[in-house]
Amino acid sequence: MNSLRFAAITGMLAILTLGAMIPSTSWAVDRAEAEETARLLAKLLKAGRLVIEQNQLLIDDQHKGDKGFTPDVFEQQLVREFREQTNIDLAKLHNSTVAVPPLAKELLPAFVMASKEVVRDAQVVINQRGIGYKNFIPATYGSQAAARFSKHTRVRLKQTTLQPRNPKNEPDEYEASVLKWLSGRPRAEAYVSELTDHGQTLRVVMPIYYVPACLSCHGEPKGELDISGYPKEGYMDGDLAGAITVTLTRP
Ligand code: HEC
Repeated sequence: MNSLRFAAITGMLAILTLGAMIPSTSWAVDRAEAEETARLLAKLLKAGRLVIEQNQLLIDDQHKGDKGFTPDVFEQQLVREFREQTNIDLAKLHNSTVAVPPLAKELLPAFVMASKEVVRDAQVVINQRGIGYKNFIPATYGSQAAARFSKHTRVRLKQTTLQPRNPKNEPDEYEASVLKWLSGRPRAEAYVSELTDHGQTLRVVMPIYYVPACLSCHGEPKGELDISGYPKEGYMDGDLAGAITVTLTRP
């Protein structure tokens, strides 16, 4: 991969300009909308992961049966978290004070629904007494919510990394090439976006980086099993963890 194909600008968009190559019937017209939608979806997935993380001690409390962490409670916390990060109130999407693209107005609620279904299906596990760690963690929530959402929409949402723990998170060729490119560079909040399939498919890749809270499972000592039963990878604070990717295909 020619690294000059991407321009990573901290805090801004990394755009690959295909300019005249894009037929006018393609995403070119509403690319900005599609891109903003992808960015918001990734933020919502991240917010959902954070809500699970904030409730991890409660979820893993072996002395407590009913945790009260219902799909509705999850939703309230997700809406609050997302509002804090974006100023967008998911409960008032249709008269939002912040501009939200029409595509996002359709897809953000669909992701909330998918997420609530994941939390609903996990209730029996979450409310089990006598068991501490239940393998209901941000990563498993994220994989499941993304898969469920992708099944119901024409948008594919995914969390991926070069050497995934879960084979379902295996990167495709495009994702792998961007991840390889990102792994050799300093941390950036930028994202990479590209039109493929003659402008029919928009790919957006948003990097995520390890923070100290991740390292009990993904950090040192490398090879030692973490609480979820996987060997730790030996990563350090600030290392590239992978990416959330969004693939939008034109209807
Ligand atoms: C409790 C242990 C634990 C912690 C803490 C944890 N992870 Fe993971 N992580 C896992 C497990 C288990 C999987 C596989 C999930 C699945 O089955 O989809 C995973 C998967 C992932 C994936 C998807 C790719 C893959 O390997 O399948 C990414 C990306 C990831 N973790 C990043 C993070 C980041 C970033 C943090 C901190 C914010 C974090 N993890 C914290 C255990 C953990």
